[in-house]
Parts: sequence; structure tokens; C-alpha cells
Amino acid sequence: MSNVEVTRGARESNTIKLHGPEAFAAMRKAGQLAAAALDMIGPFVQPGVATDELDDRVLEFALDHGAVPAPLNYRGFPKSICTSINHVVCHGIPGPKPLREGDIVNIDVTLIVDGWHGDTSRMYAVGQISRRAERLIEVTYEALRLGVEQVKPGNTIGHIGAAIQEFAEKERCSIVRDFCGHGLGRVFHDRPNILHYGERGEGVVMEPGMLFTIEPMINLGKAHVKVLADGWTAVTRDRELSAQFEHSVGVTETGVEVFTHSPAGLEWPSVPKG
Ligand code: MF3
Ligand code: CO
Ligand code: CO
Repeated sequence: MSNVEVTRGARESNTIKLHGPEAFAAMRKAGQLAAAALDMIGPFVQPGVATDELDDRVLEFALDHGAVPAPLNYRGFPKSICTSINHVVCHGIPGPKPLREGDIVNIDVTLIVDGWHGDTSRMYAVGQISRRAERLIEVTYEALRLGVEQVKPGNTIGHIGAAIQEFAEKERCSIVRDFCGHGLGRVFHDRPNILHYGERGEGVVMEPGMLFTIEPMINLGKAHVKVLADGWTAVTRDRELSAQFEHSVGVTETGVEVFTHSPAGLEWPSVPKG
């Protein structure tokens, strides 16, 4: 996600790229491959497994399918995916530390296919997790769903943020404000910024052909985050749990196309129970 820079008003709407059917077909292909990578990785998210191993597997999957992971070397990011565990909000760097029973982890995959970016993330439970962790994940998944539901021509980006904010706050959770969704396509992070809070009618007016992500980060505690000394890892200041889901979407004539739905129907729970 991008760092937040708030821009408001109708003026910005005119400067956002609108894409045609070929771009939608390319985004479908990139989005479906990124989602398939998240399907593939689910069974490997187990106690004792290092996030490095998950990174290796996604890199291999990408290369096998003619794709390139966008994060690798992006502004100096050293790995192919982001793995954000427990109080890590986003941009966690895969490493040798093994996952532990009860952890919750967001895996964020962005694949470049034929020059187009498919960007998506999900939450995974490592073994048995606490009821409160499960509740946070369910709230976050529903928040993303409600945001996606607001995508249609004539609505504004503020409609998306308002739907997410109202629901998350009603559930006594807080919304991270330091990071937001983003336009994408041939570029990884483009305008407009997609804030996960706000007011209906505020911000860019959606038009058919716009491509962007929605990727709310929701916390059990306070909204405040800080970035660790590695320059990437964002954590909650109060060290409470944080969760995130992300889809890449396009605005159609009548509503929305979600490019990154799980081909196997595994968004949450990410691995079938039992
Ligand atoms: N995939 C993230 C997003 O949703 C961005 C990761 S950039 C990285 O926008 F460099 F941290 F990988
Ligand atoms: Co994104
Ligand atoms: Co992402």
C-alpha cells in the first residue's frame, strides 16, 4: 500500500487513467494468478515453518507461471512477498523465524503478468488461534467486502472508506490511517489513494475503467503504527493484533469486477477446516 497523502475533490478525478477491455482482461489474468499463489501457500502456513520458506515458494510459483513478484527490489524491498505476523500491520519482511501455533499472518502477494499487477492479501491462522484473533480477522474480511460493495460509477472513494469505517468502528476496532489502497495497472502504486475511512461523497468520483486496490488494515487496539528500523515493518504502537485483506478491483459500467477472488474459494478461512 502507499503512504497516505490526502488529495480530495473532483479535480483529481480527471487525471486518473481509465482502462478498456484489454486492460481488464490483463488484470483478470494477473489477479487470478496472485490469488492462485495465495491458494497454493495456505497448506504451508503451519507452526515451525519460516516465512522465508513461504517467500521461496511464492517466488518459485511466480517464475513457473511466467510472472515476476513486484515487491522484489521494489524501493529496496528484499523479498518477493510481505508476511505480517500478529502486531505487524503490513510490509513484514520474510525471515528465518518459525511461525508459532496461534499466530495470525497476512500474506501479501503482488505478481506482474505481461506487465500488469495483481495485488492481493489474506489472513492465515497458524494452527489454533484465539477467539479474539479470529474475530478481528472476520471483522477485517467483512470490512473489505463492504468496501468492495460500494464500488460503482458515481460513488466516490469516500463511499468505500465510510462503509469500512462505520463497520469496523461499530465492531470496536480501529482503522489504520497511515497506509491506504492505491490505483494500479501497469504501475504498482498509482493514484488515486483509497482511504479506508472517510465520508460518502468525498474524494474522487468513480468512473468505469478505474483500477485500484482496497486493503483495509484493522486493529484490535489503537490505530497508531510505527515503522521499525528496517524501514519497512509497520507495527501497532500498542502491540495489539492487526489484520488485513486486499483485493484488486476494476470499476465497470454497472459496478465492480474483483480480479483477485480465490479460484478455489479460500479467502477466509484460508485453509478448509477439519
Ligand atoms: N503489496 C503491498 C500493497 O498492497 C505493497 C508491498 S510493497 C513492498 O500495496 F515493497 F513492501 F513489498
Ligand atoms: Co496494494
Ligand atoms: Co498488496
